Amino acid sequence: MEHNAQQAQKEKIMEHNTQQSKHATSRRSFLRKGLVVGGAGVIGAGVGVGGTELFTNVVTASAAAGSGSLTKGDVAILTFAAAIEILETDLWRQYNELGGIQDSEVPGGSGSAAYTKALLVLDGDMSQYIHDNTEDEISHFTFLNAYLDSKGADPVNLDKFRNLPSSKATGAQHIGRLTNLMQLTVDTSWWTRLRSRTKNPDFGDTFPQAIPSLSTGKFPAIPRHDGDLSPNDHIQAIANTAGFHFGFIEQGGSSLYPTLAQGATNLEVLRVLLSIGPVETSHFQTWHDKAGNAPALTDPTNGLVFPNLNASPFGGEDFQTNLIMPEPTVFLSRKFPAVSIIRPTQIAESGGAVATVKAWTADGLFIGQSQEFLALINKLAVQADAARRGF
Ligand SMILES: [Fe+2]
Repeated sequence: MEHNAQQAQKEKIMEHNTQQSKHATSRRSFLRKGLVVGGAGVIGAGVGVGGTELFTNVVTASAAAGSGSLTKGDVAILTFAAAIEILETDLWRQYNELGGIQDSEVPGGSGSAAYTKALLVLDGDMSQYIHDNTEDEISHFTFLNAYLDSKGADPVNLDKFRNLPSSKATGAQHIGRLTNLMQLTVDTSWWTRLRSRTKNPDFGDTFPQAIPSLSTGKFPAIPRHDGDLSPNDHIQAIANTAGFHFGFIEQGGSSLYPTLAQGATNLEVLRVLLSIGPVETSHFQTWHDKAGNAPALTDPTNGLVFPNLNASPFGGEDFQTNLIMPEPTVFLSRKFPAVSIIRPTQIAESGGAVATVKAWTADGLFIGQSQEFLALINKLAVQADAARRGF
């Protein structure tokens, strides 16, 4: 019996280790508490019976610690990340309903043939990629919320803000949305930022737009209604807009996670951030490649111009469409040799949560959202940016 009980206890400990919940900080706080409250006696008693009991005490102490095992900063980072992932999921679902693959993994909608065909001009696998990006975002917010919950912190739920209209185009679901894909002003400077060999946004540098006319005005990235399905250059311009918007969104995630990670305290939280962030980058790399295939055209309905990025006055290292891997550039200090890196990653300045919310707001994603929503998302961003290692 005793052996079985011990075995069960060991298994419990192993399970605890596998889940890697809270033990890093809580062990420290247990040891600190032990030294203060019980002195060496507490630790000594555990060590005296072979170490297992000490660890059991640690586990018990950490289980009792609840959400206390994550710092306020860690909770703020994970909460903001969960909110961003919910918003990403909302926008990707809208893309998937009309231009992706609707199945049991990503249900909802029935597709728009003309929009899907226009997206396929960018790549024959666009529908699959849109589907997979959507599924990834669903998994990101679902995991982050479950993880927050497991630590006794509140999961994020933005359902009360699902008040924005759906597209009226055939194929879209008619449900309330969190994000607006029908009046976008897409910042396409990510294109040139990653090609520059001498500049870095963390040094305050700015970068030219790849598609200047997409960065001013308001344009749909999904058909707003079936009237948007023609003429051909109009629906292609909508698909091209989506192509560059995909890159805009996912490069944001690529910078956000490494930036937030620098404020994390708990090693497991760091592991979570370092494991999700590169998936945003793998999305981005795909979209960067596909955006370069957007055909040059002028939308006859609104004058939106997609230039040939390989020809004058574009072209060269800043615009050439097959230069999709980040060029080496200045990092940390100009005294170091240029290095190929994700940028920005400077916490709470050019990168980070507030910068992300600002960029998404300027993008038009929140047009029509309530002040309450904007206040909440901004507050979560400020709190996430305020997180510092050890606090
Ligand atoms: Fe994500």
